[in-house]
Amino acid sequence: HRDLIAIGALATHEILFLLDEAERWVAFNRQPQKRAEALAGLTIINAFFENSTRTLLSFEIAGKRLGADVVNMHAAQSSVKKGETLIDTAMTLNAMRADAIVIRHQSSGAVGLIAGKVDCPVLNAGDGQHEHPTQALLDALALRQTLRARGELASDGTLTGLKVTICGDVLHSRVARSNMLCLQALGAVVRVCAPPALLPMGLDMIGAEAFTDFDAALAGADVVMMLRLQNERMDGQFIPSPREYRHLYGLTQARLALAGGNAIVMHPGPMNRGVEIDSDVADMPGRSIITQQVEMGVAMRMACLEVLTRRARGIAGWGDGEWV
Ligand code: CP
Repeated sequence: HRDLIAIGALATHEILFLLDEAERWVAFNRQPQKRAEALAGLTIINAFFENSTRTLLSFEIAGKRLGADVVNMHAAQSSVKKGETLIDTAMTLNAMRADAIVIRHQSSGAVGLIAGKVDCPVLNAGDGQHEHPTQALLDALALRQTLRARGELASDGTLTGLKVTICGDVLHSRVARSNMLCLQALGAVVRVCAPPALLPMGLDMIGAEAFTDFDAALAGADVVMMLRLQNERMDGQFIPSPREYRHLYGLTQARLALAGGNAIVMHPGPMNRGVEIDSDVADMPGRSIITQQVEMGVAMRMACLEVLTRRARGIAGWGDGEWV
């Protein structure tokens, strides 16, 4: 079987394939009746060791819309609290003959570790500070949909030449890492901006231009993607006041005016309104696509679950090399 652990492990044609597959489910999800039978009889386990609203619910909805039986394991109510190791938890899920396991874990590398121990496809729903691949895929899908509606999408379906500025706590952000890789694979030009203490080393090695001055990073941007300060990953070592942070790195109406004239505003959520993004920007009609990102999350996760379980269902596909 094949897993979905990292954008870095996908070829560009595989990213484009998943985007095309997800577009089928966008239309499907807009119908009043949203039940397919593609995954009927399959069991999907969502094992979340960290909090989530969007990712957990959208994976659950995605599995159910495809006809699968979906069960959620919340770490706070599980035997993890009694000291069970990650590997023993993984072996337990495996023994229950899950057909796909979706995992979010606070430790970078934990999802890959589990993938090596179980017999079914594993989907990374957020892996410490490493990657959040389905977030980057749904963000690319939301961009494709928006650009297509504006008549601005390249005929090959890529994001060639699109200038994207990602701003916020880049150091701790698995969303930023996956998005840098995904956007660049699709041909976008990526700038990242963060306070010096939250800017990782080696960004040039993955082709992203680094900024600490948000105004400079915004100049001419087609897309502005804002990130939350992840205080839960900072051990109290970076605590500017919300007011100070907003002053330097908050996306206000005035700042957005520095970007391209019709720049798209994105945020993976959860947002801290009035800190990294003002409410009048987050809710700006025609510019903010934050709710569309959430909608695309369900379609993209349906595509990922459907494609990754094809082999188990006897259908040629992901990992078999037949669709490339
Ligand atoms: N974007 C995202 O991963 O949100 P949740 O933490 O609510 O799943």
